[in-house]
Amino acid sequence: MKILGFFGKGGTGKTTLTALILRELARRGDGGILAVDADANECLASLLGSGGTSNVSEMLQRYKRQREESPELTGLDIFQNLFDSLLMEGEQEGYDMLIMGRGEGSGCFCAINDLLQAVFEKTIEGDRYGYLLMDCEAGVEHIARKTSGEIHDAIIVTDASKVSLDTLRRIKDVAREVGTRIERYYVVANKTRPDMLEKVEKTAKDLGFKYLGAIPEDPNFTEVAYQGKTVFDLPDDSPAVVAAKQIVDRLLEG
Ligand SMILES: Nc1ncnc2c1ncn2[C@@H]1O[C@H](COP(=O)(O)OP(=O)(O)OP(=O)(O)O)[C@@H](O)[C@H]1O
Ligand SMILES: [Mg+2]
Repeated sequence: MKILGFFGKGGTGKTTLTALILRELARRGDGGILAVDADANECLASLLGSGGTSNVSEMLQRYKRQREESPELTGLDIFQNLFDSLLMEGEQEGYDMLIMGRGEGSGCFCAINDLLQAVFEKTIEGDRYGYLLMDCEAGVEHIARKTSGEIHDAIIVTDASKVSLDTLRRIKDVAREVGTRIERYYVVANKTRPDMLEKVEKTAKDLGFKYLGAIPEDPNFTEVAYQGKTVFDLPDDSPAVVAAKQIVDRLLEG
């Protein structure tokens, strides 16, 4: 199983790239896909057309209630049932969706992080999924909180700005500091002027990251956003869709 986490500075295109890669993997159909929306804003779910399905935060509240109401059941049984129902609710277009939600309210994310870990471990054990795609919050927060514990591959989305490229190094540094076991780092340029791509590629190579290519500015996204449509509504020859195919080819090369 391939577990991919999407990282990068705010607004660079993490959610967009997660959705584009999911669309391409679903089209190829060579393994079940679990999409995890780990950003509290739940943008990935909307872009995939899975908005409104219930999330892990709500599940946690239900779990707490059911534990009080049914003391005869073990915590694990309750968790298992709730988790399975959560996954099935999100099923459509050849993938399952898991929405993390906002945490439990102010401050503490410990319980939801524990659940996230449990979800990962459970998912890795079975052969239900060939891919797990996790759309993370901007910056390095996710790695710092260790919620990305089981991610094998980090895909960092960037443009050619200094701030965005500086994030590449910081993500690697923070991952090392907190002992995250990320094995491979990939870089994808998004919405970047062609004459600036060389800088992105060089920065990636200098850090030992594999450069996967670039997604061009695609006017069809404006239409998708305006009409509240999904990534599956983009035409097959849309520039971003075509570029995503090549990126998936390079990603699966290793
Ligand atoms: N290749 C592209 N062509 C056109 N528009 C794009 C492209 N990539 C992203 N966008 C647009 O840029 C905006 C930001 O993209 P996106 O939400 O994917 O970024 P993000 O990194 O996930 O942001 P955040 O840090 O807020 O989670 C969106 O409106 C999206 O539609
Ligand atoms: Mg996003």
